[in-house]
Amino acid sequence: MRHRYPPPPSLEELGLVPPGAAAGRRRSGDDLPKMKKFRFQLLAGWIADRFPPCTVADVGGGKGLLAHLLGQAGFQAEVVDPVDQPLPPRYRDLASGRRVRLDEATVARRRVPFGPALGRRYDLLVALHAHGSNLAVLDTVAEAGNSCVVLPCCVVDEPAAPGPGQNWFTWLTDHARGLGLEPEPFALNFRGQHVGFAVRGDRPAG
Ligand SMILES: C[S@@+](CC[C@H](N)C(=O)[O-])C[C@H]1O[C@@H](n2cnc3c(N)ncnc32)[C@H](O)[C@@H]1O
Repeated sequence: MRHRYPPPPSLEELGLVPPGAAAGRRRSGDDLPKMKKFRFQLLAGWIADRFPPCTVADVGGGKGLLAHLLGQAGFQAEVVDPVDQPLPPRYRDLASGRRVRLDEATVARRRVPFGPALGRRYDLLVALHAHGSNLAVLDTVAEAGNSCVVLPCCVVDEPAAPGPGQNWFTWLTDHARGLGLEPEPFALNFRGQHVGFAVRGDRPAG
């Protein structure tokens, strides 16, 4: 069931790379292979570069490393995920290259499924490979005027889904536009499903 949908559009199809540029261009820092597995670090940095410190829900946040890193960057972040999971014991800090131990660290967690009644309390909703909540995130942002960053992965436990053969990423961004939102695509340099979109609402201000 999970893989009956085509992969997300290519970077060229999303307008993120000029046609023909991907094959011939020189590699830059962002392209270095060593960066490719650090999705939480890369996404936390991307968010911190684009949004002011604000309240954040790490929707479907799993172990909570993204929420932890956003907290380190000055955000008030908590995980919203019905399954309780401990933080990983350590992670690699990309700026220093050092391994950071998380022995004593904790993140705030709400052990509940995500829904609009909870989601409207946050300025920013982040859904990294989240299950069961992508549509609810968009519905919340359309109603509450907050912002979201979504990197959709598998179609799991959503109240609606594309037909077989339709692309989940494109279906979601079309759904967002149907709600009057303006999804802006982006890509990060990690392995796996690494394209996403952001919707900017009235919150967070600035
Ligand atoms: C594929 S994991 C992604 C975890 C993490 N974001 C990551 O990138 O490693 C999907 C997560 O969604 C959570 N989840 C499932 N249903 C949910 C729901 N209705 N609301 C919020 N989270 C949900 C699962 O418990 C799981 O931790």
